[in-house]
Amino acid sequence: MRIGILTSGGDCPGLNAVIRAVVRVVERRYEGTVFGFKDAWRGVLEDDWELLSVERCRGILPRGGTILGTSRIQPYQFDDGVERVKAAVAQHQLDGFIVIGGNGSLAAARDLGIDGIPCIGVPKTIDNDIDATELTFGFDTAVHVASAAIDRLHTTAEAHDRIIVVEVMGRDVGHIAVRAGIAGGATLTLIPEFPFDPEEICNALQRRHAGKSFASIVVVAEGAMPMPGTMPTPEYVIDRFGHQRLGGIGQALASEIEGRTGIETRVTTLGHVQRGGTPTAFDRVLATRFGVAAADAAAEGDWGKVVALQADHIVRVPVADAVDRLKTVDPHLYESVASAFFAY
Ligand code: F6P
Repeated sequence: MRIGILTSGGDCPGLNAVIRAVVRVVERRYEGTVFGFKDAWRGVLEDDWELLSVERCRGILPRGGTILGTSRIQPYQFDDGVERVKAAVAQHQLDGFIVIGGNGSLAAARDLGIDGIPCIGVPKTIDNDIDATELTFGFDTAVHVASAAIDRLHTTAEAHDRIIVVEVMGRDVGHIAVRAGIAGGATLTLIPEFPFDPEEICNALQRRHAGKSFASIVVVAEGAMPMPGTMPTPEYVIDRFGHQRLGGIGQALASEIEGRTGIETRVTTLGHVQRGGTPTAFDRVLATRFGVAAADAAAEGDWGKVVALQADHIVRVPVADAVDRLKTVDPHLYESVASAFFAY
């Protein structure tokens, strides 16, 4: 068996754990070979790769980032992209690819399958927004980092009777914000699924702070937006892949709160701190299980599938189903837990 592997899209703690698991299973269980392509599909298009062995993967399990590098380059961005991928398959006599990626990368893997290039997907994103799987690796690490930061911010906010707005990642969904907000005891949690009303937020904070010394922590997902026309919003840069570079809603909201309430309000943007560094034990385990399952699926020739976690089992789902829709925050969880403590 000869497999190509690549990591695609934004990085995520646990990528190296997946690579290591795939390599161990392919080499030891199936006596096969793994080609590690560099910087996602760029390595395939430009024939930039290294042979991955169990020896090469020693020590990478706890390391963040990806030993292969990553990018947002996809074959469909080039007129001859698919032909070049087919040429790489023929040249290296590959059975197919294991693609570790988020929604966009898995959609490309689905299209490549339709174009005759066998792929198996491993779902990856700290945002945890892939519907086919109950969890993606990297999410637990991000929640852990964010809730630990909120714990620290509580003590300094209390010392100064300030409001601190904490901006966390979460492009289209608020899973990180909701979990970190609950775990960190946030006063308010704002997520992309529910546009917020700045007036309601400011009134609640003002009630909470009226006449007493108080600290408040407001968690806001980077993709959260106010109701239209209620406050100024940041302008986002679009990169060459059409990817909007988010970040700034926390600052905009902090200015709005301070301007309307007169209470000193600071902002902390956690950004890529949530994505870097060593994965939690939970994420290492999930990433390893995904890697083993992907290698087994490749060995069985069960292409066109994505490995996924469902009811604590690793299952295979058709890639077409996996990229169908975003997994949003359960409104019940948000209403009953995250918003239950709204600024009391
Ligand atoms: O999709 C995961 C994610 O971390 C989002 O939460 C965030 O908006 C995005 O990646 C940032 O990507 P980049 O670092 O490439 O700008």
